[in-house]
Amino acid sequence: MGVGFSDNIVDEIKSRCNIVDVIGRHVPLKKTGSNYKGVCPFHNEKTPSFVVSDTKQIFTCFGCGATGDVLEFVQRYNNLDFPEAVDKLAGEYGIEVKSTNFQGERERTVLYEINREAAAYFYRAFTKIPNPAYEYMKKRGILPDTLRKFGIGYADGEWDSLYEYFMKKGIDPQTLLELGLISYSNGKYYDKYRDRVIFPIINTRGKIIGFGGRILGDGNPKYLNSPESSVFLKKNNLYGLNLTRQDINKENQVILVEGYMDVISLYQHGVRNVSASLGTALTENQAAMMKRYTENVIISYDSDTAGQAAALRGLDILHKSGCKVKVLHINDGKDPDDFIKKNGKDEFLKLIQNAMTFADYKIHLLKQRLDLTTTEGSVEFLQETAKILRELSPVEADIYIKKIAHETKISEGAIRLEINGNNNTENTRNSNVPPHREAGQRQTYEGKRAGTASQLEKHFIKLMLFKSNYILKMKPYEWVFRSPSAYKIYELILSVYKDDEEIDLNKVEDSLEAEDNILFQDIIDNVKLSDDDEEYFHDCIKGIEEARLNKREKEIIRDLAVLNDDEDQDKIEALTIEFKELMELKEAIKKSRR
Ligand code: GTP
Ligand code: MN
Repeated sequence: MGVGFSDNIVDEIKSRCNIVDVIGRHVPLKKTGSNYKGVCPFHNEKTPSFVVSDTKQIFTCFGCGATGDVLEFVQRYNNLDFPEAVDKLAGEYGIEVKSTNFQGERERTVLYEINREAAAYFYRAFTKIPNPAYEYMKKRGILPDTLRKFGIGYADGEWDSLYEYFMKKGIDPQTLLELGLISYSNGKYYDKYRDRVIFPIINTRGKIIGFGGRILGDGNPKYLNSPESSVFLKKNNLYGLNLTRQDINKENQVILVEGYMDVISLYQHGVRNVSASLGTALTENQAAMMKRYTENVIISYDSDTAGQAAALRGLDILHKSGCKVKVLHINDGKDPDDFIKKNGKDEFLKLIQNAMTFADYKIHLLKQRLDLTTTEGSVEFLQETAKILRELSPVEADIYIKKIAHETKISEGAIRLEINGNNNTENTRNSNVPPHREAGQRQTYEGKRAGTASQLEKHFIKLMLFKSNYILKMKPYEWVFRSPSAYKIYELILSVYKDDEEIDLNKVEDSLEAEDNILFQDIIDNVKLSDDDEEYFHDCIKGIEEARLNKREKEIIRDLAVLNDDEDQDKIEALTIEFKELMELKEAIKKSRR
């Protein structure tokens, strides 16, 4: 690979790899008006004069004059030649260079032309009234104007009328097969679409890339869709966008639906900022495509479980792509088409108004899944909710905190603490142990009856054995000796200790039982005291103290989670105060380390 990229792949890359996203991964960009600004990566500057245009999909530096499109950026930034840049972006965005490249642009023009001919053929059949497809669509309430707008057609009931039509024009059957307009079996060619309503699928450049054909009434398969071909990549296209993208842009919002009929029906009722994901699960490419027109997406899938599951997947994909997503719940009927037919535009607009935000929807699902009357359920709910809210801005999060506290028995304080508190534990994970302690010791240290002593225990013992002045200082922290052997040694040290005298090691050793002696010997032989034992001692104490604070922090969060906002005000207040003090202590320990 690497030579002779067709215009198609280049177009594909340019339309799919938003320059703002691509550059934004390397250069921090700030939105200023309709453009983005940052510090130029191509020359040395302090004030940003590097501008990226979302609408034009180009970058320009007013300092050094560098300018170009997304591919030129990738070439320059990564020091690549053109084919390498194409490969890199295609790889990163999952664009198949092969399948889009295996036919040249000229051949693709032929395919588009054949599709256009086919669409015209179906359209003519549809306009010869009466015919079954027209009757069907009329019965479904679609008006002539709308039908025309979407280029709806009719594939008649004959076995091979379209095939014959193309044969007369001298078209190669192989090409028709590739486009999925005909199929082949038992040595014969057949029209693939027979007695169906035809929905042409048109890309944003106005080219007919495929078809959907619906059966007239009930039956299987309900829809027949064009196969993937070099002109039809399902994962890169959205139905209706050719007609609706200006409306989407203007409304700064897109209603994402599942089916052809939903698009057409909403459009006819005046909700024109709509598009469909063509029955497949929403892809990242489709999300990126929508983002070129708006980042506000309302998912409006069918109310059945399949539709809801698809909505959930779409939700995550859109969220990850940086869209502001909401989920609309159809409360009357199966799908948006059903609903708007029965209730009209205004009622549908109300549904949009009431659509659940990303966080709302996720929390709604948590509530369905977890039993909030149990402690475990509440704790998990709290933890999961905190994860969701941490992704929001503080202002947004605040609104949710209040709402959740209101709807559940979990206090606002608890939610706040979970959101901030856990972050804190995260940050101090590595500092709550003395610097000399080795990784993987946490378990031992926290486990009550661990068989082996922690590094911390060993160091303390060594310190006491060789510098008896630490023995009394250790007293307040004796709970750190959790391993039975360590505790026995500690007790023994205490019993043999006399004021101002160093410990007689032999005495200790003689009094120890064999199993505890193993630890004793290990400490004598392997634990090295640092030169500055005073500092080391204090480090250990800080580590212990921090571990205790972290443990208490978790307890407080848990307690708060299950307390009732109204009934347990006093307790909540006390715990909240304790929590604040705890945070200050932790902060103080952290500072003293630096
Ligand atoms: P209507 O029943 O005509 O209202 O269909 P709809 O547009 O509401 O579609 P539905 O919710 O049943 O399905 C959503 C989309 O999935 C359709 O628009 C098609 O793109 C696709 N789809 C549905 N049924 C089939 C099928 O049998 N085969 C294939 N390949 N796709 C289907
Ligand atoms: Mn429907």
